[in-house]
Amino acid sequence: MIGVFDSGLGGLTILKEFLRVLPEYDYLYLGDNARAPYGNKSDELIYEYSRQAVGRLFKQGCELVIIACHTASARALRRLQQEYLPANHPEKKVLGVAVPVVEQAKKISRYGRVGVIGTRATIESKIYEKELAKLGNSLEVYEQACPLLVPLIEEGRAGKPECNLILKKYLRPLKVKKIDTLILACTHYPFLLKDIKRIMGKNVKIINPATVVAEKLKDYLARHPEIGKKLGKNKQRVFYTTDSLEKFKSLGQKFLGGEIGEVEKAIL
Ligand code: DGL
Repeated sequence: MIGVFDSGLGGLTILKEFLRVLPEYDYLYLGDNARAPYGNKSDELIYEYSRQAVGRLFKQGCELVIIACHTASARALRRLQQEYLPANHPEKKVLGVAVPVVEQAKKISRYGRVGVIGTRATIESKIYEKELAKLGNSLEVYEQACPLLVPLIEEGRAGKPECNLILKKYLRPLKVKKIDTLILACTHYPFLLKDIKRIMGKNVKIINPATVVAEKLKDYLARHPEIGKKLGKNKQRVFYTTDSLEKFKSLGQKFLGGEIGEVEKAIL
């Protein structure tokens, strides 16, 4: 089983792409809705919550876990890979979303001027700047925290005038820097894709992490058949949330763009 972990519902945008690109696998999604959002929390809390969630997914039988949440990928992934896995589950794997997205940015950026938008915790971690620097110093990186976007999207305000006003304000500094590529480093931002494209103009390439991460996972599994072999292929889709089942189901369908079957409660 492939585990997909997010602080809440946003990771369903990534699961949606996994289901499109790799439909044959079994998936277990865990949304820590009770403790979301993670984007304004401290490093220690984000790590602790992520460790509990990943531990739970392993316990449920996942051999591979994808951290779909950019905030958890930025703040907890490395520590999970370096400390938690070797000590507790040396045979299992945890992957995040930052590295695949950064590789894509390097590949498609024409002039090496890359913008990144995300939650405060993601942007302050400077993970995108650091990962892009590893790929060569020809890249200029400009980052912008957008703390108001997640609540607006969760309240169903995507596309509404108040949301566009705030979006324009956040994107303005990146436009001034004449970026040619923009990374949407948050699970929720694909909901604003149309407006972001309109504001940034047609010369700026937008990276939607959901599509990139799914393609990279496909590559990864092709390169690691020993891991693919351990994953079930019965098209099972199981959903867990730490908060209200009804809320997860009704809002989740919007994020997944399709029916959510049974949802179960997880206590972490
Ligand atoms: N899932 C988070 C991310 O991608 C956004 C929501 C939150 O702050 O928890 O960064």
